[in-house]
Amino acid sequence: MQIARRIEDLREATATLRENGKTLALVPTMGALHAGHMALVARAREVADHVVASIFVNPAQFGEGEDFDAYPRHEEADREMLETAACALLWAPSPDQVYPVGYATTVSVTGVSEGLCGGSRPGHFDGVATVVAKLFNQVRPDIALFGEKDYQQLAVIRRMARDLDFDPDIIGVPTVREADGLALSSRNAYLSDDERARAVALPDALGEAAGAIASGGNVGEALIAAKARLFEAGFAAVDYVELRDADTLAPVARLDRPARLLAAARIGKTRLIDNIAVDSAG
Ligand code: PAJ
Repeated sequence: MQIARRIEDLREATATLRENGKTLALVPTMGALHAGHMALVARAREVADHVVASIFVNPAQFGEGEDFDAYPRHEEADREMLETAACALLWAPSPDQVYPVGYATTVSVTGVSEGLCGGSRPGHFDGVATVVAKLFNQVRPDIALFGEKDYQQLAVIRRMARDLDFDPDIIGVPTVREADGLALSSRNAYLSDDERARAVALPDALGEAAGAIASGGNVGEALIAAKARLFEAGFAAVDYVELRDADTLAPVARLDRPARLLAAARIGKTRLIDNIAVDSAG
């Protein structure tokens, strides 16, 4: 696997990979890779000739008081995992390659960015959209893959790509979970053993609420029950539990179209997110 840290090296490496009409799939990450990230890499290998992964802990998507400094950084282990998964190229830019002195441009997606994580993390999706736009321009992939784990992020990126005529096809990949149902996340490393044991209440509460709504239960009541279950399990705060349209993320009060149940909650100091599909049983 090649590693590029400067734009010139990236351009040279991608030009070589693209020879003879070969296609490139990009998997953007912030590193601390786990089986969720690797599912994106595996899917990328199926849909393109070469896989390019990027690792960049993007300061612009962390708010003040968030975990930018504490965010896990394991570049050597990440490199080994990518190498084993036959990733062709790792783009691991230094911050000055992404945000040159005087940097002054932001990509901001309205609508789908608002509410949910956009409500509890102001500016977060501007940071995500901006860095992903830059990664698309830097790598120029044919395909880019993102996890459904970050469902609102996937919706923001799809909207941005349509609105700004970005070339890559965007592929969403289902969430990879631990055996007990907890979604894999780099932030799970922050959990104590006790918090980790309680964290399973998040997928459990979503599963229960989704089941109730799908079988005709009242949406508002199901959301209230899910929040109560999280507090009972020891979550310190619930940022949101909401039912949204699966495509537009518009609020859904009655299950009359494909919907998604999304939640964010804090256990100890760690903020966890999760979401699942809710389709009417009929
Ligand atoms: P990061 O949190 O490292 O995630 C990188 C990609 O892996 C995202 O598309 C995310 O949805 C996906 N992913 C994470 N956990 C997953 C799981 N359990 N199952 C399936 N996919 C999973 O998301 C980001 O980084 C950043 O915001 C980024 C898009 C790289 C922009 O900085």
